[in-house]
Amino acid sequence: MCGIVGYIGHREAYPIVIKGLKRLEYRGYDSAGVMLYDAESGIKICKTKGKVVDLEAKAKNGFTTNGNIGIGHTRWATHGVPNDVNSHPHLSNSGELAIIHNGIIENYAPLKEELIKRGYVFHSDTDTEVLVNLIEEVQKKENIKLGKAVQIALNQVVGAYAIAVFDKKNPNELVAARLGSPLAIGVGEGEYFIASDASPFIEYTSNAIYLEDGEMANIRLHKPLKIRKIKDDSLVDPYIQELQMNLEQIEKGGYDHFMLKEIYEQPSVIKDTYRGRLNANKGIVQMAGVEDNLEKFLNAKRIVIVACGTSWHAGLVAEYIFEEFARIPVEVEYASEFRYRNPIINKDDVVIAISQSGETADTMAAIKLAKENGAFVFGVCNVVGSSISRETHAGAYTHAGPEIGVASTKAFTTQITVLTMIALRLGKAKGTLSNTDFHTYLQELEIIPEKVAEALETNDRAKEIAAAFKDAPNCLYLGRGYNFPVALEGALKLKEISYIHAEGYPAAEMKHGPIALIDEHMPVIVIAPKQGHYDKIVSNIQEIKSRSGKIIAVVTKGDTQVRELADYVIEIPETSDALSPLITTIPLQLLSYYIAVMRGCNVDQPRNLAKSVTVE
Ligand code: G6P
Repeated sequence: MCGIVGYIGHREAYPIVIKGLKRLEYRGYDSAGVMLYDAESGIKICKTKGKVVDLEAKAKNGFTTNGNIGIGHTRWATHGVPNDVNSHPHLSNSGELAIIHNGIIENYAPLKEELIKRGYVFHSDTDTEVLVNLIEEVQKKENIKLGKAVQIALNQVVGAYAIAVFDKKNPNELVAARLGSPLAIGVGEGEYFIASDASPFIEYTSNAIYLEDGEMANIRLHKPLKIRKIKDDSLVDPYIQELQMNLEQIEKGGYDHFMLKEIYEQPSVIKDTYRGRLNANKGIVQMAGVEDNLEKFLNAKRIVIVACGTSWHAGLVAEYIFEEFARIPVEVEYASEFRYRNPIINKDDVVIAISQSGETADTMAAIKLAKENGAFVFGVCNVVGSSISRETHAGAYTHAGPEIGVASTKAFTTQITVLTMIALRLGKAKGTLSNTDFHTYLQELEIIPEKVAEALETNDRAKEIAAAFKDAPNCLYLGRGYNFPVALEGALKLKEISYIHAEGYPAAEMKHGPIALIDEHMPVIVIAPKQGHYDKIVSNIQEIKSRSGKIIAVVTKGDTQVRELADYVIEIPETSDALSPLITTIPLQLLSYYIAVMRGCNVDQPRNLAKSVTVE
């Protein structure tokens, strides 16, 4: 978590750093800070608890913002509460070095103890202040330049980091390094940018270098970039990548919030996901990463899916789809549990790691564990060039474009789209899916964007229902089969952005506990499309009704049976059972969105959360 930005070049650094931090606020937003340097005043730091706008407001009170070199940070607290002192940048004791850091220094305590013995004084509770003083100690002791000192210090450190360090003694240079946290370097004409992702510099250059784990860069004005391995000092040839992102993609485009924009993007991004991969007329569904490794998939005795949060829910949907289409047993694991419980992993397992950001620390660790045990690991990521996409043996991108709202929406539906395509491909190759079913599903998937667009027409209905239930303290979501994971995802969306306690449950399981919660105050959202276990779910609705629960039902257009029982219905277009999560999830996203807006919550940046969780 945390977002970092750095600039060195001919422009004023302050506006670039501030704008960049705003774009990275999805990574954390409990405090923010900036360091600027100019020859006259030297190092200047402004930092505060709160968001980047609070930092800007503070800077207006006498902070001089000139300088062509700067670093900035937006924080998601790990060590030390969010306050002004714990905010980054941190200075070394001499006041000559400044650092910004995303990650965790795990062995900070013994290092700190040692530095205290040597006379260092600490002002904050952060692990980062330990690192900057360690660099200073190395630099002084060895009488060396910043780059070398950073390298020696990092070799003593255990943990994860993306850092940028500035040394007043050599003000034409920034040193950046990464291990476990992402770091991109933008290469412009006579200027360089550093950032946690490429969004802060997209309007200045489309040339980016993504540092690999264990690499550091000496970034000097008017000199070529030097990248080396932190461990053995060997030089690395910088690989400059052309960015695919554009400015429009990372702006709100007239919507009130990124989340709403991203909900509305779903018809087009689902199309982007299958473009060039699916052709219903020709009966083709193919993805390079799957084709190149088809044998591995076909010989898999088992598929293990590892993921966190919403991506884990997409994994649960995939479990139903893979087992149905390809008849391969599937286990879906929370990455954080999987990695710590000595799991049984076999060489003929295929492990699928799902991650929007491609940076989630627990998912990354689960991948490494699976690889060590000889499994073939396939990644389903959204962010191109992300750590997980590089760590996996092969993979497929979801092509959803940047997702900025912290609550995941389009990432979920595009992940399901990719996973459905894989299952279809395997079902066809294994012969577990009949030819007719294969072609029917291909055709249905091809027109799913139109149905998603139709489902978005439930917007006003969702608003109306949100107004009726915005003050509810609790909420229950029920679904069966393919729509059980959708119930979990619906509940997660509500919790994340409106802070209403919500639970998702398999509808039939309700009678084993949650039914005790039902009274006239309890809104129960039931996902009840015509396909699947319709009759069973109608019975579940009856059970809620007879206990006076308030029923909000998501039903197929034209439904009459549930309409008679429910207090509110939301009508969605008809589709096959297996593809229904792509549709049923839409009104639930809208409902959470409007409830959160009506409760005055910060929809795009909910409290305590972050978009990219790069700590364990
Ligand atoms: C965080 C985000 C969630 C996301 C989860 C997994 O908790 O707030 O929206 O689902 O991480 O992230 P990933 O990037 O691995 O999909």
